[in-house]
Amino acid sequence: MTSPLADLAAQTKDVLDQVSALSSLDELREREPFLTGKRSPFASLQKTLGALAPEDRAGAGAELQEARRTVEVALEQRRVELARAAREEVLAADRLDLGDVVVGDVPATLTVGHPSLVALTQRSLEDVFVAMGFRVAEGPEVESDWYNFEALNIPPAHPARGLWDTFYVDLGEPETVLLRTHTSPTQIHLMEEAVATGSLPIHSVMPGRCYRRDTPDARHLYSFHQIEGLVVDRGITFADLAGVIETFTRAYFGPDIASRLRPGYFPFTEPSAEFEVTCTICRGSGCRTCSHTGWIELGGCGMLDPAVLDAVGIDGEVWSGFAFGFGIDRCAQMRHEVSDMRALIENDARFLEQFS
Ligand code: DAH
Repeated sequence: MTSPLADLAAQTKDVLDQVSALSSLDELREREPFLTGKRSPFASLQKTLGALAPEDRAGAGAELQEARRTVEVALEQRRVELARAAREEVLAADRLDLGDVVVGDVPATLTVGHPSLVALTQRSLEDVFVAMGFRVAEGPEVESDWYNFEALNIPPAHPARGLWDTFYVDLGEPETVLLRTHTSPTQIHLMEEAVATGSLPIHSVMPGRCYRRDTPDARHLYSFHQIEGLVVDRGITFADLAGVIETFTRAYFGPDIASRLRPGYFPFTEPSAEFEVTCTICRGSGCRTCSHTGWIELGGCGMLDPAVLDAVGIDGEVWSGFAFGFGIDRCAQMRHEVSDMRALIENDARFLEQFS
């Protein structure tokens, strides 16, 4: 009887030829079972070995194993070659040809970036407040429980914490670390600093990024921007607060947009108010955006609560003040009639380019 392995050398050569002819990784993956796997000549030959005389079986098995191993090595080499070729192809396609860029002469296909609508809005808000005599200050985005809540008169388990649910960072420290839900904690930093350095009074605005555990929709984002205002001085009254809000509103939105304050509640101010402005879409006549009220809520404000002054060690008998806070993204949305706030974070160049 002829050995079932009589044609092994020719079969191996044939399989090796097929390996070298593979032209892509996909093809390699598809053909692998036929080359070295279950459907290869080696697998079928393996089955015939049982028919051999026991003394021939071991030698034939080893011969077959060696042939299969040769093909496996060749297949691995081919896999590496094809992977390298595929990568080079991707790199070549991704290559940016800078050959026609001349310094000082930007070709029409390249555009120069510009600040985002939110950054531009923040700058113009700052300009209005600086013109009114405020300074611009900034605070950290990663805060402790004390700054984001406790010092603002929001003790643990206070129901108002639900409104300001956020992302907590577990650093295994005794203190809770979180992403700030509003710019109000910067008030605390400024007041603590002023007390430490004896530099009261304070007239500052504090813009910056905030975070909330919100699902994005047309009017909410999980990351957004606010601008906070803080005045601590002698003899400050609610009339000063109302005057600042009204002056800001007309300066920023234009003379035909007014402000109004409605009683509200915030743990860190007493009394507190919600700050609304004439709807910029219908100019006050009533439309869907303003739920036919003619007004749009922009933020909150109020007189500093004595508990907050106590927390930072300011004598409420000598000093008084007010604070306010509102959304920068909301201002951008209102002034530019952006119907869906998600456009602000989606990075769609067609949207962004309108504000260059
Ligand atoms: N921090 C409040 C919020 O995010 C807004 C706010 C309300 C800020 C009243 C204030 C204030 O400074 O006095 O909802």
